[in-house]
Amino acid sequence: MKVGVLSGGGDAPGTNAVIRAIVRRGLQRYGDEIVGIRDGWRGLLEGEFLPLNLEAITGILTRGGSILGYSRTNPFKYEDGAEKILKNMEKAGIEAIIVIGGDDTLSVAHKLADFGIKCVGVPKTIDNDLWGTDYTFGFNTAVATATEALDRLHSTAEAHQRVIILEVMGRYTGWIALEAGLAGGADVILIPEKPFDVCEICEYIRHRQKRGRNYSLVVVAEGAKPKDGKEIVYSDGVDEFGHARLGGVGYYLGKEIEKNMDVETRVVVLGHIQRGGTPTAFDRILATRFGIAAIDFVHEGKFGYLIAIHGNKMVPVPLKEVSGKRKTVNLELYEIASVFFG
Ligand code: F6P
Repeated sequence: MKVGVLSGGGDAPGTNAVIRAIVRRGLQRYGDEIVGIRDGWRGLLEGEFLPLNLEAITGILTRGGSILGYSRTNPFKYEDGAEKILKNMEKAGIEAIIVIGGDDTLSVAHKLADFGIKCVGVPKTIDNDLWGTDYTFGFNTAVATATEALDRLHSTAEAHQRVIILEVMGRYTGWIALEAGLAGGADVILIPEKPFDVCEICEYIRHRQKRGRNYSLVVVAEGAKPKDGKEIVYSDGVDEFGHARLGGVGYYLGKEIEKNMDVETRVVVLGHIQRGGTPTAFDRILATRFGIAAIDFVHEGKFGYLIAIHGNKMVPVPLKEVSGKRKTVNLELYEIASVFFG
């Protein structure tokens, strides 16, 4: 069988491990021909492919990024996008596609079923906010990177008696902020699911000062917003899926805290450092399991499904159930983290 693979949306460490697993299993077990599609849906719209043989995947397990490239192209924003995709697939002889993506990319896969296009979804996003799966690959690596950043900030915050704010990714959900904050011993964690009040944050900092801790670490997800306020955007405009480019809430907070109390703040925006680089062992294994399950799904004819992980099991979840929803943070876990605030 000739099977296409694409990676779409924002990249996540572990993508190459998924691709490697698909190719190895596809060639060895099924005698498939695996075709790489360049830069997500863009490659299918424009008919840009590359052969994925053993040579192409050698040494990629540990590499971040994606050997296929990524883009946020939305075919439904282009005239006859779906028809062009169908034509390019037919021309290349591609019978089914494995789609590595988050909510946006997978919502396209779901809609393409109406055009007779067979897709299987693999859950990817460092934000871990995809509905229907306990984990997406890439998230564990992002949490590890953010935790290491917190560990490093700890000593310098203490040495200078400062309030250091670490801004992490998380557009609509605060999974990275919450788990890294918990692991790194943050004194306050701010997430999009719970709009914040600067006075309350200052109270936590004062409380620490009373205990003789003249420094604090605040972790904030980029999508966190003040009560009665809006998210802070980095620039105007939206991408092809309608998302604004966020960034700057850390600086906003730093200034607001200084206005409200006599402390010195510093702000660190972790940004794409948490998306780049080599995946953790956990993500390499998870991504490999997703890749193997994906090609197995193709041969079992499980099209229109996402491979999800529930507990430690790989299970099929219909893409129509995943589309347009979001998995917000576990508030019980937030409650546990808040025991350590202030
Ligand atoms: O893929 C999710 C994500 O990492 C978000 O957390 C973030 O807001 C966004 O991507 C940034 O993406 P980019 O810089 O690629 O536009």
